[in-house]
Amino acid sequence: MDIIADRLKSLPPYLFMQLRDKIRQAEASGIDLISLAIGDPVEPTPAYIVETLRTAALDPANHQYPTDEHKGMLAFREAVSRWYGRRYEVTLDPETEVLALSGVKEGIHHFIMALVNPGDVVLVTNPGYPAYRSNALMAGAEVYEVPLLAANRFLPVFEDIPEKVCRRVKAFFLNYPNNPTGACADRPFFERLVSWAKERRIQLVLDNPYGEIVFSSDRRLSLLQIPGAKDISVELNSLSKAYNMTGWRIGMAVGSSKIVQAMCKFSENVASGVFNAIQLAGVTAMDQGDQDIENMLAIYRRRRETVLRALTEMGLTVEAGPGTFYLWVPVPAGQSSLKFTAKLLEDAGVLVTPGTAYGQFGEGYFRLSLTVPDDRLREALERMRRTIRKGC
Ligand SMILES: Cc1ncc(COP(=O)(O)O)c(C=O)c1O
Repeated sequence: MDIIADRLKSLPPYLFMQLRDKIRQAEASGIDLISLAIGDPVEPTPAYIVETLRTAALDPANHQYPTDEHKGMLAFREAVSRWYGRRYEVTLDPETEVLALSGVKEGIHHFIMALVNPGDVVLVTNPGYPAYRSNALMAGAEVYEVPLLAANRFLPVFEDIPEKVCRRVKAFFLNYPNNPTGACADRPFFERLVSWAKERRIQLVLDNPYGEIVFSSDRRLSLLQIPGAKDISVELNSLSKAYNMTGWRIGMAVGSSKIVQAMCKFSENVASGVFNAIQLAGVTAMDQGDQDIENMLAIYRRRRETVLRALTEMGLTVEAGPGTFYLWVPVPAGQSSLKFTAKLLEDAGVLVTPGTAYGQFGEGYFRLSLTVPDDRLREALERMRRTIRKGC
């Protein structure tokens, strides 16, 4: 008898682990691989944030279980409330509408386990971040995929979802600014979505870790800005991408107190909270880091322009979305995503993500991340140019 649980057997291998394996294999065989495949900023966390961690880590008061372990320190929850107020014009009650998380990824699991019953339907987008689907499957839910197509600006046409499916839907996972397409939602879209979901008693989850990475000033948006959204929605956010803190594992669930409290109850039973010193560093980031966000955006803006110029010269037409540090690039005519990305790896030593890694509607695209140093990015582009010129 196999000792492994069925729920695990239903899961495909996790995409980023496969990519990391490819990078390791290349390194082991001495290949100078340049990876543009993973969205993990190379710039360090700003020094004063690290300094807060250092000081807090030296304080024995922080060596015990985290304060208010089940929901996060009050100081952290208050800072989240200030941050959402200042950056997104959203009012949050730190007592009931904020939960500290070890990053968005943990929040996806907590949400599903707290709300979704076996047999419920969970809506996810395709292409989309794979964790929504895998967590829904682990909970015994059915996954219904909603395509994101260029023709619709990579926004889901939720009105097309059959009513007989909608009747069984518990939750809809959306992610704007969007990984992998770079698309952003606008206010009218969110307004239509909220009234559609309310009529059908569907709970909304906006996965928003790229909320700060927007290249046009009018697009920074929280779903919770929409009147009435808070009744049915939770937003998952983190400091990972905004402050170059992917390794710190610090984030938050905010929104409907009913959902946040349910996630909190689940969390109490499986985790013991986030290290106080990391939460305090998070407070410093949110209170003092606005200028660092601007600096980070300037770096990505510069790299974006370099890449877009180079891709156009290579004959690849890209309609860059207004958000995230990814570019969603059509593969050369006549190629498939997998074939082209495999060729780039083999011929140029450049790793990019095939669009199909995010679902079948990613066919015809590859995703390129701007989170690499400028010189490596330029080198990767030069190698790509040579490969494409050879007719690959
Ligand atoms: C769409 C999306 N959601 C969630 C995450 C995970 O973010 P965190 O570091 O907050 O767990 C990522 C990371 O790349 C992502 O792209």
